[in-house]
Amino acid sequence: MNLVLLGPPGAGKGTQGDRLAGECRVPKYATGDILREAVREGTELGREAKGYMERGELVPDELVLALVREALAGSEAEGGFILDGFPRTVAQAEGLRRLLEERGCELDAVVYFDVPEAELLRRLSGRRVCSGCGAVFNVTSGLEAAAETCARCGGELETREDDKPETVLNRLRVYRESTMPLLAWYRKDSGLLRELVAVGSVEEVYENLRGAIGCS
Ligand code: AP5
Repeated sequence: MNLVLLGPPGAGKGTQGDRLAGECRVPKYATGDILREAVREGTELGREAKGYMERGELVPDELVLALVREALAGSEAEGGFILDGFPRTVAQAEGLRRLLEERGCELDAVVYFDVPEAELLRRLSGRRVCSGCGAVFNVTSGLEAAAETCARCGGELETREDDKPETVLNRLRVYRESTMPLLAWYRKDSGLLRELVAVGSVEEVYENLRGAIGCS
């Protein structure tokens, strides 16, 4: 299964992608996670990406395409993969198509997570991430009412730098301008785009996701 998870900031791509990757035993590559790691480690990629990420803008296509090419080059992606947060522009989608052609494979589905903006703002304002293990919680959902420490490893919970209200508004604007056109782009590929109403509990959305991709 070669899958793309597409949707606005806070739509639940990471939450659902992690579950699906665990169940299907395929690697999940989240470009946001890879870029944040590069920023933390102070690599050349991280230094180039940092400013864009802090402003809630997209990192240039060529940098992101290079990191996806490297991620997919590993043998662990041979049995399938999940891409979370990539592609995000038509140029990235064209780059991915070329990359997969070179590998002699193609996408099986692109799942679009549809969530109303008010719910996105609620989720993003309540998101907390463990500085130790990276687990994601939400203080507003009531499902995993986070304390100040991670329920899994005891690490400190932090608010993501780009979840500040002014940055969130910019990320949503960038999403509408640069990423939403991908919906029309993938709609032309008949049968590839699956539109998922991604509201309800995490468990409900997961069952809908499994149904959308024909997971038995
Ligand atoms: P990235 O990390 O990809 O951020 P994003 O797409 O904005 O997505 P998020 O991580 O905010 O949301 P999500 O959909 O994964 O939601 P989550 O599951 O966490 O990108 C960050 C930055 O990196 C970009 O701004 C850009 O600068 C750069 N970048 C990354 N990829 C790039 C690319 N391809 N090209 C260029 N630049 C790129 O859930 C959110 C919260 O809601 C959590 O608290 C969760 O617990 C909660 N939640 C989840 N599901 C539910 C539910 N059903 N009900 C209630 N709460 C829920």
